[in-house]
Amino acid sequence: MTRKTDILIIGGGMAGLTCALEIPEKYSVTILSKIQLPTGSTFLAQGGLAAVTSEDDSFENHLKDTQKAGAGMVDEVVAQKIISTGPELVNTLSRWGIALEGSNGDGGGMEGGHSFRRVLHYFDQTGRFISEHLGEECRKRSNITIIENAFAINLISASREALSLLQKGCDRCLGAYVLMGEDVVTFLARETVLATGGAGKTYRYTSNQDSSTGDGIAMAFRAGLPVRNMEFYQFHPTCLYHPDKRNFLITEALRGEGAKLINEAGKRFMEYYDPERMELAPRDVVARAIDSEMKHFGTDHMLLDATHLSRSFLEEYFPEVTSGVMSVGIRPWEDPIPIVPAAHYCVGGVVAGTDGSTEMSGLRVIGEAASTGFHGANRLGSNSLLEAGVMGLLCARSITDHLPGRITGVTVRDWSFGRAEPLEESVLVDHSWASLRSVMWDYVGIVKTDKRLRRALKLLDVLAEEVEEDYWTLLPTMEQLELRNLTTVARVIVRSALKRRESVGLHYLVDCPYTSHIKTDTVLKINM
Ligand code: FAD
Ligand code: SIN
Repeated sequence: MTRKTDILIIGGGMAGLTCALEIPEKYSVTILSKIQLPTGSTFLAQGGLAAVTSEDDSFENHLKDTQKAGAGMVDEVVAQKIISTGPELVNTLSRWGIALEGSNGDGGGMEGGHSFRRVLHYFDQTGRFISEHLGEECRKRSNITIIENAFAINLISASREALSLLQKGCDRCLGAYVLMGEDVVTFLARETVLATGGAGKTYRYTSNQDSSTGDGIAMAFRAGLPVRNMEFYQFHPTCLYHPDKRNFLITEALRGEGAKLINEAGKRFMEYYDPERMELAPRDVVARAIDSEMKHFGTDHMLLDATHLSRSFLEEYFPEVTSGVMSVGIRPWEDPIPIVPAAHYCVGGVVAGTDGSTEMSGLRVIGEAASTGFHGANRLGSNSLLEAGVMGLLCARSITDHLPGRITGVTVRDWSFGRAEPLEESVLVDHSWASLRSVMWDYVGIVKTDKRLRRALKLLDVLAEEVEEDYWTLLPTMEQLELRNLTTVARVIVRSALKRRESVGLHYLVDCPYTSHIKTDTVLKINM
């Protein structure tokens, strides 16, 4: 079956929904989400969206903070564009009914690495508030169709599926094959936008939802696009440590309100690592400090002490965190919260401009799946909702200005099931998922060594062979396709980490502890 739309957006988080809403209503837009909306990391965001809204603050200040966190690897032109479009994004969101606290110049929150209270938020439920409103707004538009439980498997490109259209030296994206129930539907579009988010599920412990499996990055990589700086995976320092609860995030904004990190001996340990910035040092510094203390004491968690805050303050300003930790019996105004760092944000991604443009015409990548250079070697907290929203707006405008013609007179082949058979033993997929995530956690975590990285690559190569065999012989299921994408992304992360012969930002390699004077990007392509 084939379906046509002007613009196909794969992903219904901040980036995808903002882009859809900004496209003029004369164009048909189809949004696909592999699970029901509201979804994605956007839904989970707590802290907020960083933007300059006060006269006392400035774009220069925000740029400086972004550069400092990014360890000198931020693309300045890109950062200027994104930061200076922040106020416009804030106004647009407010037009769509999303008025964030601090939008009028005061009341913004504070987070690590920011020199100003510029984190606009809705209590600690910023992502939920944004996702629900954007989703509602999209459903009001007659030109937008949202299809949930639709899993994009692969991009369709002229060079592979419609050779007659391939112009000399220039490939073009024509849409995507999408798993819907047991069928694979061919979606054809004038422009395809990947807004599929990050890949936290590559690691055993993550703050991300189960859906963050790096699908868009893997799809683009397989289609031949360059993927950049994937060794920079950000670990959020403070996720709840509890055997019965997913690694629920304890927002950095709580540290912004004075919560302290305490070790096994009851000591506030950040003074050994970053005495000036303490708990509000950049995330790589805090996560490494926690990792080091855990190794020193041989424990699997540290404590975050917010007991200086009253119950009423916590319940009013941090309702998500308070109810989350109370559900496992912790009373945060009395008890320190057990925390552990967890994989949180994919700083690398598919090389893209601020408008999502990529090497392949007809294909854009926006939000966390993209690498614009904005975050450098480490993302400043609350800069990703900003980037995702700004990219959504700029992408929509650029699409409107440069929309390629309708695809006519071209035959795109349907998905072929060949002789594929159903998976009979789901333990095969489950076990591979678990081993991939353990390999990544144990060998490719906060602190890396060459030996561990090489061992990880060997294990992942074996896994990749098995996964590829399953891909060609089994009927497609979401779990198996996600595993394939995770394997692709994991191998790219490890290969990128082996290539970078220095320690910088989020990449700490024991064998090369110094930072090089020459700033280079790690770029991988499928046949490199
Ligand atoms: P997402 O919001 O992750 O959306 C991805 C979408 O793609 C989903 O709809 C998913 O269903 C869909 N999808 C994926 N693969 C497929 C496929 N194959 N087929 C179809 N659909 C697919 N950043 C901040 O700036 N401030 C914060 O306070 C903040 N807090 C955070 C808290 C948590 C717990 C987490 C995990 C992240 C947080 N971040 C925060 C990061 C930020 O939320 C994300 O970077 C941002 O929301 C990403 O938006 P996105 O639209 O790119 O992707
Ligand atoms: C947090 O609230 O600590 C997360 C903010 C972010 O990831 O930007």
